[in-house]
Amino acid sequence: MKRGDYMDVASFRTHFPPLMDEDAPVYLDNACMTLRPTQVIDAIQGYYATNPSCAGRSVHRWGMSISQMVSRTRRKLANHIGSSKANEVIFTSNATHSMNQIAAGFPWQSGDIVLTSDREHNSNLVPWLQASKRHGIVHRSVPSHVDNSFDLEGFENACADAGKNLKLVSLVHVGNLDGVQIPVTEATKIAHDFGAIVHIDGAQSAPHIPINVESLGCDLFSFSLHKMMGPTGVGALWGKEDVLQQLEPILAGGGTVSSANSESYTLRDIPERLEGGLGHYAGICGTEAALDLLAEYNMADFEQQEIRINRIMTDGIKHLQGVEIIGPEDPNKRGGICSILLEELDVQNVGILMDEVNSVFVRSGLHCVNQWFDSHGIEQGSLRASAYAYNSEEEARCFADTFCEIVESLSGGD
Ligand code: ALA
Repeated sequence: MKRGDYMDVASFRTHFPPLMDEDAPVYLDNACMTLRPTQVIDAIQGYYATNPSCAGRSVHRWGMSISQMVSRTRRKLANHIGSSKANEVIFTSNATHSMNQIAAGFPWQSGDIVLTSDREHNSNLVPWLQASKRHGIVHRSVPSHVDNSFDLEGFENACADAGKNLKLVSLVHVGNLDGVQIPVTEATKIAHDFGAIVHIDGAQSAPHIPINVESLGCDLFSFSLHKMMGPTGVGALWGKEDVLQQLEPILAGGGTVSSANSESYTLRDIPERLEGGLGHYAGICGTEAALDLLAEYNMADFEQQEIRINRIMTDGIKHLQGVEIIGPEDPNKRGGICSILLEELDVQNVGILMDEVNSVFVRSGLHCVNQWFDSHGIEQGSLRASAYAYNSEEEARCFADTFCEIVESLSGGD
């Protein structure tokens, strides 16, 4: 039973100790990581205090209880992204790890082509560039429209140009640069028509919008728990069984083989074959707690609440001179992200002042989307405010007022 069809932000906030402090900052750096609720903090502490064991190995009661917890959490992760098969979820340390596992473990042949968009996080770019050095594959970026929306026609043409060498398409679902969402279902269908496997970087979508990998149609999907109330150091790679089975593990060893002798080894089936070594069990306990809390809400309500916050932020700053929001003007098309280019002012300086003047926490810089900034000739990056469902309208107004005050005073305006 969900709590309702609207966000009760005030009550949701009470779960987060840093927000209950009387000196709580206005935390708008959620695209980097969200805050953690008491449930997650307690679950991590509970692991070390009462059950400090590992999964899939020891048969004593602590070990068995952690094995069950890992299986339950795998199932809950699958549920969160609309997958009916828990064994298709691999625990990784974050979305970056997931993408490195794909790039380093894929059965490449020299000349294979990987297509991405032109506004990918470095984690969905550098692993392909490495694979190009190591395996002779070719990486190509598909340019976005001027407003950063996805160019489906350009993408289809790029698939056609790549022809039979097109092996993998790897696209960001929601950009951490600007909050812009791509039409995954349509892009996946096109890529499949050209015989490619499709990976979606869901680091900024799984925490904010309803996800159903089965209806999206993609073959692989990566995300990180630290962006959805969970601990740092836990991520996931979901994939169709036959696709995951083709990946060579980048961490081989403990737990990944069914047999081994001094000359050879046999890998186990997924998920174990891709989960070498002891896992981050405290983190997986925290993940279960985060997923339990998420399951009490509708992700569509999270999305709407974040857009509501973004609209207040956008409306409050868009009149300023020398300020440009990256992506479409309409906040409906940018989720909770308001990423701002400053013509004359230093983004790091403004970021520091946002904290000093009114404890408003934002992120400034390149946000690991170096390729996009480089191709637009913007060296310093942007100042980015990114909302989560616990952000209040009052906080959004505080962001806008503080930003206006700083920009106007540094620009010498009145
Ligand atoms: N990718 C994270 C961000 O956008 C770190 O802040």
